[in-house]
Amino acid sequence: MATVTPELGRNLINGTWVEATSGQTMASVNPATGDPLGVVPRSGPDDVAAAVAAARAAFEPWRKLPAPRRAEILYRAAEELVRQKESLARLMTQEMGKVLAETRGDVQEAIDMTYFIAGEGRRLHGYTTPSEMPHKAAYCIRVPVGVVGVITPWNFPMAIPSWKIIPALLCGNTVVFKPATYTPLVGIRFAQILHDAGLPPGVLNVVTGSGSTVGDVLVEHPDVAIISFTGSTSTGLAIAEKCARAGKRVSLEMGGKNAAIVMDDADLDLATDALIWSAFGTSGQRCTACSRIITHTAARRELTERLATRTAALRLGDGLLPSTDVGPVVSEAQLDSIHGYVEVGKREGARVVVGGGRARDGALGRGYFYTPTIFDNVRPGMRVEQEEIFGPVTDLIEAQTLEEAVRILNGVQYGLSASIFTRDVNTAMRAIDDIFTGIVYVNHGTIGAEVHLPFGGTKNTGNGHREGGLQALDVFSEWKAVYIDYSGRLQRAQIDKD
Ligand code: UN1
Repeated sequence: MATVTPELGRNLINGTWVEATSGQTMASVNPATGDPLGVVPRSGPDDVAAAVAAARAAFEPWRKLPAPRRAEILYRAAEELVRQKESLARLMTQEMGKVLAETRGDVQEAIDMTYFIAGEGRRLHGYTTPSEMPHKAAYCIRVPVGVVGVITPWNFPMAIPSWKIIPALLCGNTVVFKPATYTPLVGIRFAQILHDAGLPPGVLNVVTGSGSTVGDVLVEHPDVAIISFTGSTSTGLAIAEKCARAGKRVSLEMGGKNAAIVMDDADLDLATDALIWSAFGTSGQRCTACSRIITHTAARRELTERLATRTAALRLGDGLLPSTDVGPVVSEAQLDSIHGYVEVGKREGARVVVGGGRARDGALGRGYFYTPTIFDNVRPGMRVEQEEIFGPVTDLIEAQTLEEAVRILNGVQYGLSASIFTRDVNTAMRAIDDIFTGIVYVNHGTIGAEVHLPFGGTKNTGNGHREGGLQALDVFSEWKAVYIDYSGRLQRAQIDKD
């Protein structure tokens, strides 16, 4: 099997690849085998300070470069991502475990985002509007904000950084990027491609290290104007508190407890395919993963049987192997946390239909594998029904009507994605009306968002911002309203009306 030569990653500060000032390093480990994959800087406050200073110095000239020119650099990066897609996907599979088809998809999502947002270089629309006064022009434009701190998770090590870094740069900001502790090598490769595409020194900086040092220093740094974070709700809310005290803008993308409703008239072949993919793709480690299946009473027995059969047949293994359906979870700690939830579910009275333990057969014992797990007899309010598990575990919950199903779906603190399987257009449309999430799918699972639509969620999933879509631009720009009075006299708004 082809492997990547162990990589020596470095920080990118002011256009130069450097080690941590302390000289300390940390390893990146392959979760399928436990083998070290590479070594990156274990950075500290000095490294963050240097990166922020570089980003700050680079801001003025970058802001002044016309947006279409900034976009040309991003287009070049997108083309290089296309060329390197396969090797990036292989590195990603080795660094965080998901299967090659999915890591190719992750790189593709970064490519899509980069092309999509680069196109905005020649739009970046504001609008013109009539003034109250004669001979007075009124319009508004987007302007960049300053230095953006980007803190990202390991489950989408290239797609999620691209959702943040690309629009931040296009809008004219400069960036300090802290990749996830588990996936620094992919983060560094992404930055390298942007750097090699021609970003001026300091426009994009990378600092690897832990959240408690690098992340915190970035959040607290007075010269960082915006923090864009994806990760757990507890970390996100702690970041929001610090940003609030500093008067900083913060965009948060946090947890999910996404549900799919399967009605009595659903196409069960389709629902089964989609739910297996949504629950166990990326080993369930997606913010959008389907961790609750709310089944109509009439569909319950058949759906449960079909899901159980398909789940039991899923092949665990190294994500590089074509025979693998489900890769490892990211770490031993994640494995323990998932298993802890399975124990909680059993104590709460849920029944394990399939799965429910660590997989250790043969080569699996070297890595962090968990058997895809379905709980039946789950009732609203149980912890396994309310809390994000972030692993290959999903619940079956019974409901007798659409109204009850929607009530259960909405009855959690999160609101990222949701789905309904039905052949009745009225049922589908009523569900769309009443489901309170940022994303709703009909006859599709809960995963698979596309970059040109807004991505994000309601309630504790986020703080009102969106990634993807043109909405992403709102996080990374200020609106400037411009009035040009060419009447040659004082015209007082609201006062000189007659
Ligand atoms: C995430 O799980 O954090 O819709 C992102 C999806 C992907 C993105 C998921 N396009 O599942």
